[in-house]
Order: sequence, then C-alpha cells, then structure tokens
Amino acid sequence: MQTNWWQNAVFYQVYPRSFQDSNGDGIGDIQGIIQRLDYLADLGVNVIWLSPVYQSPNVDNGYDISDYQAINPEYGSMVDMEQLIEAAKIRKIKIVMDLVVNHTSDQHPWFLEARKSKDNPYRDFYIWRDPATDGSVPNDLQSNFKGSAWAFDAVTGQYYLHFYAKEQPDLNWQNPKVREAVYQMMTWWLQKGIGGFRMDVIDLIGKEPDRKIKENGPQLHAYLQEMNARVLSQYDVVTVGETWGATPEIGQMYSNPNRHELSMIFQFEQINLDKQSGMTRWDLKPLIPAELHAVFSKWQLALDGVGWNSLFWSNHDLPRIVSRWGDDSQYREKSAQALAIYLHMLKGTPYIYQGEEIGMTNYPITSYHEIEDIESRRVYQQRQQQGYAISDILNGINAKGRDNARHPMQWNGKNQSGFTDGTPWLPVNPNYLEINVELAKQDERSIYATYQQLIKLRKRNAIIRQGRFENVPTGNQNVISYKRMLGEQSWLVIINLSKNRESYTLPIQHFGPNQKIISNNLLLNKIATSGVLQPYDALVVAIGNEEK
Ligand code: GLC
Ligand code: CA
Repeated sequence: MQTNWWQNAVFYQVYPRSFQDSNGDGIGDIQGIIQRLDYLADLGVNVIWLSPVYQSPNVDNGYDISDYQAINPEYGSMVDMEQLIEAAKIRKIKIVMDLVVNHTSDQHPWFLEARKSKDNPYRDFYIWRDPATDGSVPNDLQSNFKGSAWAFDAVTGQYYLHFYAKEQPDLNWQNPKVREAVYQMMTWWLQKGIGGFRMDVIDLIGKEPDRKIKENGPQLHAYLQEMNARVLSQYDVVTVGETWGATPEIGQMYSNPNRHELSMIFQFEQINLDKQSGMTRWDLKPLIPAELHAVFSKWQLALDGVGWNSLFWSNHDLPRIVSRWGDDSQYREKSAQALAIYLHMLKGTPYIYQGEEIGMTNYPITSYHEIEDIESRRVYQQRQQQGYAISDILNGINAKGRDNARHPMQWNGKNQSGFTDGTPWLPVNPNYLEINVELAKQDERSIYATYQQLIKLRKRNAIIRQGRFENVPTGNQNVISYKRMLGEQSWLVIINLSKNRESYTLPIQHFGPNQKIISNNLLLNKIATSGVLQPYDALVVAIGNEEK
C-alpha cells in the first residue's frame, strides 16, 4: 500500500483555551500557541489538531460556532491565525482545524435568519418539525447533553432539532445548499494552507430524525464521498472523523482509500470499556487490561491493509488517561510511560493530548460550583433529579467529566504554572509544583522523555509504522503483549497494566537477539518464555524471527 505523509506523522491536540495565555486575561490564545511551537517541535510532533478557535458564544467552549471564517477575539485575530500557520510551517508542523458542521451556534447568521419565518431562504438549513397533536415534542429523540433533542421556537410555532445544547441547532445535510456552503468554507480554509480537518461528530450528519436515526444514517458515506470529490481530493490533506458509533467494519468504510472518504477516524470502543453494560458512561466499572487489548487487537487486524487507525488515549472530552487507566499517585510516572509505550508501538497515527506527555492528572472537585463544562452540569442536574446521592454523582464526574482535561497546561513551577500572568479561566491543578514541563525536561527518565523517545523510534523504524501486528497471549489478564513484524524483523511488546507484580507465560520458545528497544524499568532488559513483571513494567525487545 502506498503511504501518505500522515501515516508517518505524530499529532498533538491543542485545546487553545488552556494551552498558553499571552496577554494575561487568563484565557489561552493563538499568540500563546506560537510561543510554544519550539516546545512542540522539540517533542517531535508533526501536526497540531487545534480545537475550535472560531467566533463562538462559547456555550460549548467553541463547539458552537457563529462564524466559521472569523476567529474568536478571545483567541486573537485572523492575522494571528495566519501567523500561526506560517510559524508552524517553518518548523515543519501542519495545523489541522476542527470542522464542526453537524451543527452551528444559534447565533450563526444562518440560524438567525432561519428562525424568522417558515419561508425564510435559510429555513431548510436546519431541521424543523410541527409539534405533536398535544403540542409536545415531535418525538422522543434525546440530546447527547441530556433532555429532549427538540427545542420549541415560539416565533414560528415549530420545534428545531439539536443533538447537543439547544444553542447548537443541527444543520440539515439533506439540503444541498448546506453542503455547498460547508464545502466553500472548507476550501477557504484549505487555501490558507492548513493541513486538514478533524471532523466533529461527523457520524451524525446522515441523521434521519423522523426515523429516529442519529448516527450512521443511510446517506452518511455518500455525503463524505461528495465532500471528498468536491473539496478534499483537491489537496494533500489529512482528515480524521470523530465517530463514536464506529465498528471495525464501519471504520473500514471511512478509511479505505478506495472509497475516497476520510484518512482515518477516532473510534471509541476502548473508551467505553469502563462503563457498566447497558448503563451510561457515568456508571463506572474497573478496567480489565485484557479487554482493552482485545479491542485494540481487533481494530489493528480489521484495518490492516484496508484502512488506517488513529491511536489515542485522551482528548478534551475524556478524563486524563493516567488517572483513568494508570495510577495517578504511587505509579504515576511508570504507569503513564507504560500506557504510552503500549499505544505508540501500535500501527496507526498517534495523537497526544496536551499535558499527556508530562502525565497531567484529573482535577477532583467537591461541589457543583466547580463544574464549568455544560455536559457535566447537565449530568449533575439530571442525576440529582433521579435521586442519586451527591457523592455518587461527584464520583462519576471526577472520574469521567470533561473539565478534567481542560485545566491549564502545567509549564513550570511559577505562579499559575506559567500558563498565565492573570487569573486562569479554570484553576491550575495544585500538583503543578511536581508535575510540569520544566521539571520533566530536566529529567532524562521522565514521561516527557519517554514520549520524545517513542516519537523518535517511530520516525526511525519502519516496523512501527508499517509492520504487521500479531496478538500474543500471556496467560494473565493484567499482562498484555503483542508483536510487530516487518521482513526479518520481529519486535515484542509486553506490559503489566496493573499495580501488582504479575507473572506471564508466552507461547514463544526461542528468542533471537532479545535486544531492548525501550522500557520504563532500568532493570528490565530481556524477556523469557515465562517470568514476573513489576507493577506497570513495560518493555519492547527485538526478538528476531523466532520461526527460523
Ligand atoms: C464533540 C466535541 C465535543 C462537543 C461535541 C459537540 O464530541 O469533541 O467537545 O461538545 O462534539 O460539538
Ligand atoms: Ca489570552
């Protein structure tokens, strides 16, 4: 298979509000990102996925856009944005924009027009339905932020659809004029020299509300193929779709190059492993490493040669990975390194979320007033009405809430962790004195150093980028292992993803050179047919071709 530049690249997600403030107003901004480009170049990343910086009333922190071709003044101006693209380019870093086109803000001029009258030319840009005969909502479709997905608009006496907040009305993709307007906007950005798009909840655009179809609607792939033909195919860009409802079969459809849709998707099957079955993601259960590995193995094999995987642990909607599936106290460094080694040795394009590379942790809260995120606020209110105990509600939000990943980046041990000279919009985690970039860069065994080394290894070794994947059983559900193979080369990855000592037995009798590639334990250099691993031990060894 021919390889594309984005298959050899490592991505880094910047959540602009929390990355670096340059003017002391407590809000991260574009000039702040420019100041930190050398840091990102030094880490070794090739692409920045920038969460939304567009004009927005910020009901959902920028995922409610009121002008796709203007920058939110909190973040800077279009000139700043052009500077960022240019300054990044000098460092061989591309900027990928967040494309949020399942919905707009209710302050977008299209919606302001649409709600004026039933015969307004923009009316069909959105999805309007008459009330049911008793005046209530057209049907029982639910918003992903809780409550009905329908909001009543008194001006015309109809309901409009919103799969997120009522201030985020859903666009009507069945209307060719909507698609045309989106394609024009995308082209405008591509001509500015961006490297592509991350597509927000893109699997919802084929919605058919009357049949209660939200994700994976019948026209979804046809729309993406049209978008590809009209826009994407004209540029050498990367696209990654956010698709909560993807199975490996659906993943093949999106990312098979012969189908001309997207480069890759974010699939979330592993993310749902710690929820009780049949319950919401706020109802937790412990993670079993073997189940995690089963999901990754399935996707590795399903997309091999016919599509392409993205690899990620975290983003702005998910808790900090070291707090979730690692151990954010005693084994913080070691478990963060184990998770990094596990993910970055897989086949696909890795994504690092800001602060993950220094092992930033969740930010526990003790009351409703500390919640900033719209989703967590809704969840709190709904669960309170349903009679849950406050401590249970807070436990769920502390474990899974979206604010966890949105607290300011911890750059150094100075006031406000070097994020701002003013008062940050969300408080800095008090652990910034021990967990910050400056300290991590001085320590050659830090989590940061591991990430930097993993990126270098990927750049230098085709086996990581292109090698075949094979699952290796270990006889222990807490120890996960796999092989990567290319030509005569064979590498073995083995990880103890628990805080206990664990034993393993591998179905391998002979190890060739058994030469260490990377490990998070100085004493762990070789692997044998069976043995014992210390808590969160992770090791990658070249084992040669044991079949010979
Ligand atoms: C995506 C975004 C999330 C946002 C939602 C609605 O899931 O990642 O932050 O709230 O879409 O746009
Ligand atoms: Ca600022």
